[in-house]
Amino acid sequence: MTTAPRPKAPAPLGETVLSVKHYTDSLFSFRTARPAGFRFRSGEFAMLGLMQESGKPLLRAYSIASPNWDDALEFYSIKVPNGPLTSRLAKIVPGDEIILKPRPTGTLVADALIPGGTLWLVSTGTGIAPFASIVRDPEIYERFDRIILTQTCRTRAELQYGNDIVAETLNHELLGEIVAGKLAHITSVTREPTGGLAGRVTNLIESGALFDAAGTPPWSPERDRVMICGSAAMIADTKALCERAGLTEGSNAKPGLFVVEKAFVG
Ligand code: A2P
Repeated sequence: MTTAPRPKAPAPLGETVLSVKHYTDSLFSFRTARPAGFRFRSGEFAMLGLMQESGKPLLRAYSIASPNWDDALEFYSIKVPNGPLTSRLAKIVPGDEIILKPRPTGTLVADALIPGGTLWLVSTGTGIAPFASIVRDPEIYERFDRIILTQTCRTRAELQYGNDIVAETLNHELLGEIVAGKLAHITSVTREPTGGLAGRVTNLIESGALFDAAGTPPWSPERDRVMICGSAAMIADTKALCERAGLTEGSNAKPGLFVVEKAFVG
């Protein structure tokens, strides 16, 4: 008996860093060239990293923050002090090479949600990365009536990346018209005074302050779809609130009313 050879895992690709932007001591974004034929759905993640001295790549899961129509790829990262990958990645400069594995995947995709109604993109920290892709994807605005992007961070400075993405989207010569009146952005901070909303998004959901800020009634299965991305604890707590509101979890195989994914760090 002969056994068919197993399909080979795709070889990692080397890609050139085009630009790097540092937001705080611990947050930065970077853009790389996009490999020919590198396809993904907005909201997916890929394995990305750097080559080690041993000749083996050190890879972590990174959400792709750019939309799928973009010629370049964008990523948003935390710098973990002494983190094996992020402490090195934080030092990249244009012209350096990163390693990228083809075939992105993930659950924070429109295909995993039943279309229609209001799409809530609930994030903490770097969990905004997949949503930076989604809010810049025109197809999302065809599938849902309204998109509400929320981000909660410890400090106001940590909200800058999200603020920039939303401003860029609203001012974009083509996207601006598509998203006008449909995209809302709600932010809160938890560890310093703010002129705006304060506190964890979970508390804002429970108190109703999030819905007051959005000018909507609380979540209902008839009207709302939710994507959640952040730390494991934040996901668990927000997922419980979705379930309490009667929303059911979706997947690529069986679309539902909410989906979750961890913001990866390492
Ligand atoms: P807090 O400052 O109250 O811990 P981190 O930087 O630790 O990933 O946190 C990012 C943001 O997520 C912070 O504003 C933090 O609030 C918030 N957060 C942490 N854990 C939870 C949780 N279980 N539910 C909701 N928000 C959370």
